[in-house]
Formats: sequence, structure tokens, C-alpha cells
Amino acid sequence: MSYSIEPLFQSFNLGPLTLRSRFVMSPMTRSFSPQGVPGQNVADYYRRRAEADVGLIITEGVGIDHPSAIGGGPGALGEENIPMMYGDAALAGWKNVVDAVHAAGGLIMPQLWHMGVMRIPGTGLYKDAPSLRPSGLWGPEGKAVLPPDYLSQMLPPTQAMTESDIADIIAAYARSAANARAVGFDGIAIHGAHGYLMDSFFWAETNKRSDRWGGDLVQRTRFGAEVIRAIRKAVGPELPIVLRWSQWKQQDYDARLAQTPAELELFLRPLIDAGVDLFDTSTRVYSAPAFEGSDLTLAGWVRKLTGQPTMAVGGIGLSKDLQSSFAGGTVPINNLDQALAHFERGEFDLLAVGRSLLMDPQWAIKARANEPFNPFSLEHYGKLY
Ligand SMILES: Cc1cc2nc3c(=O)[nH]c(=O)nc-3n(C[C@H](O)[C@H](O)[C@H](O)COP(=O)(O)O)c2cc1C
Repeated sequence: MSYSIEPLFQSFNLGPLTLRSRFVMSPMTRSFSPQGVPGQNVADYYRRRAEADVGLIITEGVGIDHPSAIGGGPGALGEENIPMMYGDAALAGWKNVVDAVHAAGGLIMPQLWHMGVMRIPGTGLYKDAPSLRPSGLWGPEGKAVLPPDYLSQMLPPTQAMTESDIADIIAAYARSAANARAVGFDGIAIHGAHGYLMDSFFWAETNKRSDRWGGDLVQRTRFGAEVIRAIRKAVGPELPIVLRWSQWKQQDYDARLAQTPAELELFLRPLIDAGVDLFDTSTRVYSAPAFEGSDLTLAGWVRKLTGQPTMAVGGIGLSKDLQSSFAGGTVPINNLDQALAHFERGEFDLLAVGRSLLMDPQWAIKARANEPFNPFSLEHYGKLY
């Protein structure tokens, strides 16, 4: 390796936080929290990354306490072992996680999540909760690369969300953010990507509403912006807010919210006005050019158009992107020279790393020392290293 990786180990200031490196642990659902409660194994798992040069940890998706009709509840989730940001037991578990990460000198934010259209009705801890959809639609047929038995349960239309459903969800995000702040998290990350609830408001294929929650691209940002505003109010002016968004959806990998850079700017502006401090621009391959006629990556466009801090993600340390890796043939590679070139061109401030950090808590240290990475295997997804 003829270059120095040290620029990626320069500290970075995000509001009141100082990240010790540019490497961020990307949010990854692990399903190791029985009844929604993260235990000591989860605290140890995140602590190991905090000890090993990771600048910021974004947790796995964490369910907000919806529906509030039953005094809070895990209706946001479709699985019983995904953690929640609600209830005394889960919050005590999270306090233990946060304390462990802080004791190791690390920083940690929860990724607040409502699965919305992607939750199979009748699943999770609160089985009666409906699968919430802005217009009752799951998305276009025939474009998703998902198991047929899952699709057959998701495709039938459901009821469109009511005004009170929407108000309830916004309030649930705010309460969960306040809970996260109370247990000591360093900021709030929001899952606004991959076809889940917030993204289904952003996307024209799932949001066909003619009221104030639907309409053109800017009007479709209203739900996300209102959630962000409510979170900002709940956590105060200091705590950084990170928004993950994506062009691609699980319903259609080729989907796009913004067809052009001009549309991208229109989409991002209301979200910045609402309080986003950092955009986590979720791509399958971070280095892919975002629009025709330019080599610039999506994170690069976000940074260029808005001047906001930006995080890139997708394919660091591995030969294949997440979705392609299921077909086999994925091997670890050191592709940090290319990442460094994008970084030095000013395309992103932070680099999120998913699978590489899932497999190996020491990954950032190995990257710095130019040591070989661990072999890749899908079996890693079933273990908490
Ligand atoms: C097991 C697993 C679970 C994931 N869960 C989430 C999640 O809860 N929230 C999210 O935004 N992304 C999730 N992702 C996507 C990752 O955060 C990341 O964007 C993706 O894996 C691409 O990065 P990589 O190529 O470095 O793995 C998950 C990925 C994996 C492998």
C-alpha cells in the first residue's frame, strides 16, 4: 500500500462531538435482544468497536414506541428480538450499552426505526399492530428481489394511514428520541431509507396521497421533516441528528427519489431546515456515480449541493455489495486507497462500514496497520463477535 490512510484517522467535529476517526459503524440489525431488550452481550459487542478506533457507532435499527394507543409498544417492528427504545427494561439495557461504549472512549447513536410498509402484518411483539403505509401500498410488483412467501404477504393493499396515525407516529419518534437522550446517547440517527416507513412517504410509488402529506417531491418530505422537527424539539438544539436516506428501495433496487442533482437539492433542503446535521447517504456501492454525465458519488453530490456533513457507505473492505454477496463469491479486499481518493476530493466526511465491522471488531485497527482482513462468510450474520 503506497498511500497513507492517516487522513481517515483525523478527528471530526459533529456539533459538540469529536469523533476520533472517520470510520463509523453502519447500522445493522442483529436480533440479539430478546423481547426488545439489549443485554450484556449487545453492550460488549458495541464496546469492542468503540475500543478499536471506530469514531462513531450507529446501532442496529431500534423500534420506536408505537402504537401509543396501548401506552407505547413495539408495533414498529416485525421481529421479537429487535431492540426497542421504549420501556424500563429496554432503556436500562441501552444505558448499559451507552455506558460501556463511553467507558471505552467511544460515541454511540441509536438508529430510530419504524418498519412501516416492510413489516409483515401479525409479526413482532405487538401482533395486532397494522402494517402502516401512507397510501395502503407496498410498492410496485415485479421489481423486488425478495422471497416470494414474504412478497405474497406484503403485496395486498392495506388502509392508508389516517391523520391520527401520522400524528401518533411523529409523537412516538419524539418520545423515543427523548428516551435515547435520557440514557445518554450522543445523538439521534433516523432510518429514512430502504423502503421503510419514512422512505415510503418520500417515494412516489408508495405515497399517492393528495393531502398535505403527499404531492410532489418536496411535499413528500413533509412527514420526514415533521419527524425531524419533533425530534429536535424533544432533544434540544445540541444533540446531532443523522438522517439515513437512499435512492434504492427493497421494493426496487433501481428506484430513485431524485432523478437529477436539482431534484436532489429540492429533496434535501426541507430536511436540513428541519434539523438534520449529517446525511447518511445509503448506497449499495459508495463509489458509484450518482447521475449521468459526472463521476461524482451520491454522498459527493449531497455535500456539494448542501455543504452539510455527509457520510458514504457501501462495499468498504469487501469485493461485493451487500445484496450481491448473498450469491456467494465475496472476499475481503483492501479498497481504502480508492475511498481515500474520494475523501480527499471532498466527497464525504465520514465513511460507514457495515459487514466488515460486523465480522471483525478490530477491522479499523487492521485497516490502519494494513493487516489482512478476516475471510467473509454469511455465517457471520448469525453471531455477535
Ligand atoms: C446484517 C445486516 C443488517 C442490516 N441492518 C440495517 C439496519 O437495521 N438499518 C440500516 O439502515 N441498514 C442496515 N443494514 C445496511 C448496512 O447499514 C449497510 O448500509 C450495508 O450493509 C452496506 O454497507 P457494507 O457494504 O459496508 O456492508 C444492514 C446490513 C447488514 C449486513
